[in-house]
Amino acid sequence: MSNAQPRKLFVTTALPYANGAFHIGHIMEYIQADIWVRFQRMVGNEVHFVGADDAHGTPIMIAAEKAGITPQEFVANIAAGRKQYLDGFHISFDNWHSTDSPENTELSQAIYKRLRDTGLIVTRVVERFFDPVKGMFLADRNIKGECPKCGAKDQYGDNCEVCGAAYEPTELKNPYSALTGATPVLKPSEQYFFKLSDQRCIEFLQEWLNSPSRLQPEMVNKVSEWLGNEGKDLADWDISRDAPYFGIPIPDAPGKYFYVWLDAPVGYLASLKNYCGKKGIDYDALLNNPATEQIHFIGKDIVSFHLLFWPTMLKFSEHPIIDKLKINVHGHLTVNGEKMSKSRGTGISPLRYLEIGMNPEWLRYYIAFKLNAKVEDIDFNAEDFIAKINSDLIGKYVNIASRAAGFITKRFGGQLSDAVSGEAAMSWKLRFAEQEAVIREAYEAREFGKAIRQIMSLADEVNQYVDTKKPWELAKDPANNQELQDVCSNLLRSFYSLTIFLAPILPSLARKVASLFKMERDLTWADLQTNPSAIGTFEHLMTRVDAKMLDALFEVPEAPAAQAAPAANAATNAAAEPLAPEIKIDDFAKIDLRIAQIVNCEHVEGSDKLLRLTLNVGEGRMRNVFSGIKSAYKPEDLIGKLTVLVANLAPRKMKFGISEGMVLAASAADEKTNPGIYILNPWPGAEPGMRIR
Ligand code: 2FM
Ligand code: ZN
Repeated sequence: MSNAQPRKLFVTTALPYANGAFHIGHIMEYIQADIWVRFQRMVGNEVHFVGADDAHGTPIMIAAEKAGITPQEFVANIAAGRKQYLDGFHISFDNWHSTDSPENTELSQAIYKRLRDTGLIVTRVVERFFDPVKGMFLADRNIKGECPKCGAKDQYGDNCEVCGAAYEPTELKNPYSALTGATPVLKPSEQYFFKLSDQRCIEFLQEWLNSPSRLQPEMVNKVSEWLGNEGKDLADWDISRDAPYFGIPIPDAPGKYFYVWLDAPVGYLASLKNYCGKKGIDYDALLNNPATEQIHFIGKDIVSFHLLFWPTMLKFSEHPIIDKLKINVHGHLTVNGEKMSKSRGTGISPLRYLEIGMNPEWLRYYIAFKLNAKVEDIDFNAEDFIAKINSDLIGKYVNIASRAAGFITKRFGGQLSDAVSGEAAMSWKLRFAEQEAVIREAYEAREFGKAIRQIMSLADEVNQYVDTKKPWELAKDPANNQELQDVCSNLLRSFYSLTIFLAPILPSLARKVASLFKMERDLTWADLQTNPSAIGTFEHLMTRVDAKMLDALFEVPEAPAAQAAPAANAATNAAAEPLAPEIKIDDFAKIDLRIAQIVNCEHVEGSDKLLRLTLNVGEGRMRNVFSGIKSAYKPEDLIGKLTVLVANLAPRKMKFGISEGMVLAASAADEKTNPGIYILNPWPGAEPGMRIR
């Protein structure tokens, strides 16, 4: 299906904060975008699929400070851990960049200057909470106190997690700084605002909203609500933050930085520009080309930034991309019906999924099956997952090849016969041709579940043909040789076409199938028109899901609190605790102990034993570890400290998330003699990641 005029597509996903590893919600979004992108590439369109780390902001600055490294080093560590996830799930970004980059600084400042020159930036002096100990203005999330509505203690400065109320940090009762515990003081500060309430912005948004096919209907409704009351409810947007802040300096405004959400979406353009530089593509020409379309994939939680501020910023900085911007919003992923936390995700650790040997294409298939073009949440359900993979993907599709390839290889030297013969074969051949357009349109419209249902209904017809023809029966009598070759050839050709239909979802499997048909390259949609004539060696294509894998994925330890504190035994004091059986040095060598830096530490809501530790073990990513040491340590006392981690312990799913290792701690055999828990702390000079031998 080669297009006369290939589309030029600039595709992005939301840029993840560089303060943690990817969680399953990120992976779901990337899979959605990647399937769409791979489909576009297959039909011959020009695609530039780029991502980046969202590097700026207070949380990253504070986390880096606690880790004793620069924010740049912190972000680089996180970035170094991205590849294993992206490669692991076959996410085919053309480029991965950072919002903390020269391109982003230049582009963000240029956009800002244009907005300023059109009179859409104003300054106002406002009173903000200031931490007198730390000497800095506090972000809403760094201020805690009692909810002004329900009185719940320890609530963040922007909203209450108990009653759901949203408020200003200044409304909190008994506020305190989450960084130092100090009582914050109100201090005046000049802030820079983007005038979203300007009549020009309101008129533009009304018009933008009504331009066809830019937004899903649910999102049109959402923006219409915000624009209700003739836009009078739209508030101006504070785009500035005071030093110290990890961000991009505001031009001509010493000590002021762009709020992270101003430069984050500009990061899409920065990554494209960086990519164009590497590839020798003319960035300006690409963006100014009226044929270029920008497609964002984002989650429903960040729509106000993408549907109000971002388009308005583009419009009034006269950015050419505004006329081609399209935003695809997806719902959230729940896991066995459970909601996810924004920062940590829940339920499924993508790395654990890969580490226990689960096939990434199972997840791609399952997510694709669940996805449509609406803004609906989708649920990962373990039983449903097993059924979809084993009964549909393997049972209906993969098995077609296993049933036919052996006969063709062993009996016919790998040669397929020419003709598509027989009534049944003819009818499904026709149905393939008919369904091609339906499947193509479903991919284009991001109705991946629909595409899969169509593809599987074709697979059902092929399977009926197998059941009618019974190749294993034909094989019993050499007189049926020609028919056997014809039937198996029909099956393999249908399998070939089904593979092309599924290739955006199953890229690695499609590659193996291409190789089976002696095509050492990625399949394209146009390959539907070619008739393969032979096959090579048949290699096993995909295994079934073993339910035990799902158990391993969701494993819950019996005694979560025992993660850090060794269980007490019957001895009455520490000295009397009997030694464990003797081991050899090889046994000890199996335990990989590493120096870990406690980059962050926090209470675990709902647990009176655990603390959540974020650990840097020098791996270019952070680890999440739960430790039963709450009775002994305050989180703030541990942040920045070094300790010892059992680094090769299999990750464990606990009630509150995945624990990726175990922090070592000493305790008395009988807690009555000494109830303390003492975590280990290496001598100065040890560095994160060093092995303890
Ligand atoms: O919500 C988030 O995770 C943000 N880091 C998304 C930013 S998307 C874009 F604007 F960069
Ligand atoms: Zn409340």
